Amino acid sequence: MSDFAYVESYAPGEGRRRPRADFLSDAPRLSLNGDWRFRLSPTAAGASDMDDSGWDRLRVPSHWVLEGYDRPLYTNTAYPFPLDPPRVPAENPTGDYRRHFDLPAGWPPDARAVLRFQGVDSCARVWLNGTSLGHSKGSRLPFEFDVTGLLRPAGNLLAVRVHRWSSGSYLEDQDMWWLPGIFRDVELLARPDGCVDDFYVHASYLDGQGTLRVDADRPGTVELPELGVRVPTGVEVTVPVEPWSAESPRLYRGTLTAGGERIALAVGFRTVSIVDGRLLVNGVPVLFRGVNRHEHDPDRGRALDRETMLRDVVLMKRHHINAVRASHYPPHPEFLRLCDEYGLWVVDECDIETHGFIYADWRGNPPDEPAWRDALADRIERMVERDKNHPSVVVWSLGNESGAGAAFGEASRWIRARDPSRPIHYERDRTYRHSDFASVMYPSLDDLDAIGRREEPAPEGVEPGSPDDERRRGLPFLLCEYAHAMGNGPGSLVDYQRILEAHERFCGAFVWEWIDHGLRAPDGGLWHGGDIDHRPSGGRFCLDGLLFADRTPSPGLAEYAKAIEPVEITVAGGRVALRNRYDVVDLSHLRLEWTVEDGGVPVESGSLAVPHLPARGLGSVAMPVVPAGRSERWLTVRAVLATDTAWAPAGHEVAWGQGLISAAAPAPARRGSLDRGPARFDPRTGELVRLGDLTVAGPMLDVWRAPVENDLGQGGRNNLAQAWRTVGLDRMLHRVDEVCVADDRLVVRGRSAPAGRALGLRTELVWEPAGDHAVRLAVTVEPEGDWADVTLPRLGVRLALPAGLARATWFGRGPGESYVDSQAAARVGRFAADIDAMQTPYPWPQENGNHVRTRWLELTGPDLPTLGVRGDPWFDFTVRRWTSEALDRATKPSDLHASDRVWLNVDHAQQGIGSASCGPALPDRYRLPVAPYSFTTVLSVCYSSERHRCTGS
Ligand code: GAL
Repeated sequence: MSDFAYVESYAPGEGRRRPRADFLSDAPRLSLNGDWRFRLSPTAAGASDMDDSGWDRLRVPSHWVLEGYDRPLYTNTAYPFPLDPPRVPAENPTGDYRRHFDLPAGWPPDARAVLRFQGVDSCARVWLNGTSLGHSKGSRLPFEFDVTGLLRPAGNLLAVRVHRWSSGSYLEDQDMWWLPGIFRDVELLARPDGCVDDFYVHASYLDGQGTLRVDADRPGTVELPELGVRVPTGVEVTVPVEPWSAESPRLYRGTLTAGGERIALAVGFRTVSIVDGRLLVNGVPVLFRGVNRHEHDPDRGRALDRETMLRDVVLMKRHHINAVRASHYPPHPEFLRLCDEYGLWVVDECDIETHGFIYADWRGNPPDEPAWRDALADRIERMVERDKNHPSVVVWSLGNESGAGAAFGEASRWIRARDPSRPIHYERDRTYRHSDFASVMYPSLDDLDAIGRREEPAPEGVEPGSPDDERRRGLPFLLCEYAHAMGNGPGSLVDYQRILEAHERFCGAFVWEWIDHGLRAPDGGLWHGGDIDHRPSGGRFCLDGLLFADRTPSPGLAEYAKAIEPVEITVAGGRVALRNRYDVVDLSHLRLEWTVEDGGVPVESGSLAVPHLPARGLGSVAMPVVPAGRSERWLTVRAVLATDTAWAPAGHEVAWGQGLISAAAPAPARRGSLDRGPARFDPRTGELVRLGDLTVAGPMLDVWRAPVENDLGQGGRNNLAQAWRTVGLDRMLHRVDEVCVADDRLVVRGRSAPAGRALGLRTELVWEPAGDHAVRLAVTVEPEGDWADVTLPRLGVRLALPAGLARATWFGRGPGESYVDSQAAARVGRFAADIDAMQTPYPWPQENGNHVRTRWLELTGPDLPTLGVRGDPWFDFTVRRWTSEALDRATKPSDLHASDRVWLNVDHAQQGIGSASCGPALPDRYRLPVAPYSFTTVLSVCYSSERHRCTGS
């Protein structure tokens, strides 16, 4: 046997201390983070030369693959090594780490001491001053060694050998980058005589009273000064308290003192229960409006600093997210401290995923194999023991996508005995025998609705009407993943939320996922899996977050924030109706402000008294009296924070609603003559060539968009883009059949169709004068031939315009991009933006930047007349410096280059976005069937001195 046989043994570790709570105390602590000596070897044997003076230097915590050694690998479901458990390849990059350190002054070398690793990926063997301490697996969980008696005042040497692959890797097949290394903190902890090693805070809440008991392995004193509590460990007290919740994260800070050590306590009183198939916290139902969060930073991988964790928490709170599923492993303990403090419900998930056994038809799946029992139990215990004292943790999750097996039964029995206070979630065992929640991923809207009614069909392998079937139907439902946020999307967030709020069975849902896992590439761009020359690869599937990898919010996050905003504000019938969607708090922390805008220009504003509305309550206030206006007049009511909070300043918007006060007066019909108007046409082709002093080309019928990730579907399913390309929508050829002038109208008839196909779209463009500066275009489209069930990505016209146009101003929905199934976040108003800033930089270029329901648009540029577009009543538009074809061809943002034109698409409609990259097909109502269409638009041109004439605005 080699001396690295432990790498492939089933054993989770050796020589480690038993798991215990993570806590902060005033006992001496030495951080061993920083500069370490490092040498990478190709196999598990590691370095043979023990003189580290010539070794490289590596910062800890970090992943060596992001520090210039070896390379990161990304797989979704497949293991990156042969499926031959528990063996791993001989090619097993192994990093030897060494840290020389002295003890700080006042640290008695013979005092009891513990060496703690918060996270090492994937297997570490540890030596201190030449003594082998043992090894550990389980990357995202801490492990400790007792190092009492092994320390010297100076010249200590800590040596750690880290193997990229180990038997533990078989339990860590999450859809994410494989990132080896010591990626969380390393610390030396002094343990004073008589101190507490482990403790358990039991803090429940009932009817205004909190009951507290802190159990510890040594006697100690518990103090919560604010409550006047001073009791020995093990003694229960009941006192009046305010409960802890994500909405009102009331913490009572105090101490647990034993052996001269003071441990910081942050106690939140709360009781989690399941009653009549509903999840309750402190006796009231709660709805998780959540996200799945991986730890990710484009430069540091999973080695996050506190500032980055805090950014996540603040961004979540500001976007009304109230829950986090720690997908798919326990996060850094600091993140949970922040969740306690800022208020987020946490589903704490164990570091267990064996998804790749799908390629062996689940034969040998570890949860179903006795040999892996200890390794799995070890992970469960390390999670529960570490995190048991966090009020934010309200649900334990046994892991992700690991099939079924006896190990989950054992895990749930162990947790129930150790911590009966929290329910357990596990999604992938369809009997749900070991779960307190029914749960699936990515259901369609209809399927979710059936689940809400408790009418879902029995899952495969479960007998309808059997005890398992009955029990599952009685369980609350937790939607652990939905709304795959890959690329542009997800669509239907509002539709999902409506269903989630319509049924008592639901306790909430978690969007997949919080952040894109792009990694910084050497050229400053971003890498996804496909950029690494390695098979298997998950390709771009790691780019599916509501945040871009650099933590810039994507339009999907704005839409999610709107879908889950805590107050629903409806302006109609002379009243402002309010629905308090908080589960716990009333609205007394908010202010209501209103603004009236006429055609998007503010004309009046004020504030409204906030009615007293308890959690989940309904109410209304009278609308301010506002006379009708000249153009579309809208009243916008915003709910904002009345005072500063830890996560946002006073004035931060938490909800808004709008109501139309008066519609625009119909635009006067302007005739004039086509000859004297601004439009000049090519007499042969009927093409518009000038509009006043603007050189234009077009308009051409356009039915193509650069497919979004969701247009590609998943693994051959729902691949609309493929169907579009098969028909040839990406290569339409245009023909003009007839150009005729009659009654001062120019009529251009033609046909657009792809090469090699008998089908096509007949077009008729009718131009009419519309005053001295404008021309009206009526477009009629008539399909010909057999289109079968193909839909259209878009239907509209495209114009080529001078490159000098630089800025867009529009009245309609904005300011962000919007699509038919993702437009809740876009309010009606007047917006302006530079064309360059209107391109959403999806890391894989695709359709973006659309604006639905635009009433009018103006494009301006230095020394150029203004181009105006008016809808009848509205249109969608995108404007960019490259064509859809160029966007389609690009594989990186850096492939996109400004052309010598600005390209404007004025669309009758564009198809929705959906979330079919992992999930259901786009609902029919968001598709654009091939059918006859007709639409009208008015194009105008004007000069700065007479600008108002451009769109009549
Ligand atoms: C789920 C899985 C996630 C992720 C997602 C798709 O099945 O749990 O880890 O792979 O699909 O992005």
